[in-house]
Amino acid sequence: MGICWGSPVRNPTPATTGDLSTVISNISQTTSNNTSSGASTVSRNSQFSAASGDEASAHGQILPTPNLRIFSYLELKAATRNFRSDTVLGEGGFGVVFKGWLDDKAPTKSGKSTVIAVKKLSSESLQGFEEWQSEVNFLGRLSHPNLVKLFGYCWEDKELLLVYEYMPKGSLENHLFGRGSAVQPLPWDIRLKVAIGAARGLEFLHTSEKQVIYRDFKASNILLDASYTAKISDFGLAKMGPSASQSHVTTRVMGTYGYAAPEYVATGHLYVKSDVYGFGVVLIEILTGLRALDTTRPAGKHNLVDWIKPFLSDKRKLKSIMDPHLQGRYPSKAAFRISQLALNCIESEHRNRPSMKDVVEKLERIESVKELTREPRPRSTHPMAHRQGQKPLHLRSPLHPRQDGFQGYQQSPQARVR
Ligand SMILES: Nc1ncnc2c1ncn2[C@@H]1O[C@H](COP(=O)(O)OP(=O)(O)OP(=O)(O)O)[C@@H](O)[C@H]1O
Ligand SMILES: [Mg+2]
Repeated sequence: MGICWGSPVRNPTPATTGDLSTVISNISQTTSNNTSSGASTVSRNSQFSAASGDEASAHGQILPTPNLRIFSYLELKAATRNFRSDTVLGEGGFGVVFKGWLDDKAPTKSGKSTVIAVKKLSSESLQGFEEWQSEVNFLGRLSHPNLVKLFGYCWEDKELLLVYEYMPKGSLENHLFGRGSAVQPLPWDIRLKVAIGAARGLEFLHTSEKQVIYRDFKASNILLDASYTAKISDFGLAKMGPSASQSHVTTRVMGTYGYAAPEYVATGHLYVKSDVYGFGVVLIEILTGLRALDTTRPAGKHNLVDWIKPFLSDKRKLKSIMDPHLQGRYPSKAAFRISQLALNCIESEHRNRPSMKDVVEKLERIESVKELTREPRPRSTHPMAHRQGQKPLHLRSPLHPRQDGFQGYQQSPQARVR
């Protein structure tokens, strides 16, 4: 979920959602339906409130109103062992995320309690009420195998919390950029599976009757279940798509540096295809194991797209930038086809980008072609591999190590700006 940055664009934090509007001026705010003063029910300000009837499909569903359980603060306090530090799963712009166990009167068939993830708004969070409300209104109504499930929420006095299904494998970000012995680099097949799952989630949003623009597509918002099925989380910035008479939504520029589409950053015009750009950036992260934005990289290489784009259109150059953690164990034709797809997704002209439906089809086709994977060879050509004095590629701040034995860190190398 996002927070508002007060930082100028010159000093961006790579992984945190925020207000990108400092880079543009006079963006009219024509689509802000939420109110932060609203002490009304969460559904009253729903951006879905005009929707009528259920939209059901074999792979997803939109409910007319959020279908959520209301939790008491005491219940969540008990579930998280009093928000104990050893239940912390991570921290984002909204606040800390805790692991919890619900001792329901009707436990699951296996007799075990339900495991949950509880996101607790921190008092310092600038992200606050609007995005909490957006999460409830969007995610509370959307149901799809590739969207994380929101079980419910708690709103008592100043306490705002969100209760999700627990995703045992954490975020894609942790797997791509996390360090430590407990972080196993993802093998090629799993990377492809994650890309397909996340693409299906976005496709569902884009093709639903009330077209939804997600606006914050990035590796940290792709969560993984026990079998590495990808589920998109964090709908704090989601917007209804353009109306029939309009091609875009104009809005305050929010998002994450490195992932936000250029037309959106430049003009505040948000298109469904702006999400496709973010998807392309994640594809490049999946291929290279490099962050969308990393200011610890040498000058000229901070922005992954700007730096890596010329490598993507050439098979040999592509090899030199593939994630060394793959140890060469990937089918080179498939990797090249994905790099072509990524290039297409990051086209500067949004109209030239593929739809997410096309993206899903292409990825599924790539997955269906079984190529022989070459035996691993020593790799030394990665552009970051031999720089003397270069900081480790995936160095991350130890500010918020996970407490569950998972050693990946939750933050980017730069401190978050609050
Ligand atoms: N449902 C969940 N199950 C398991 N872990 C989760 C869940 N939701 C979040 N997490 C963990 O908590 C971390 C923080 O998540 P959060 O969404 O608050 O922040 P973020 O995505 O890193 O940044 P931002 O605030 O910009 O979205 C995630 O990286 C993930 O590891
Ligand atoms: Mg998130």
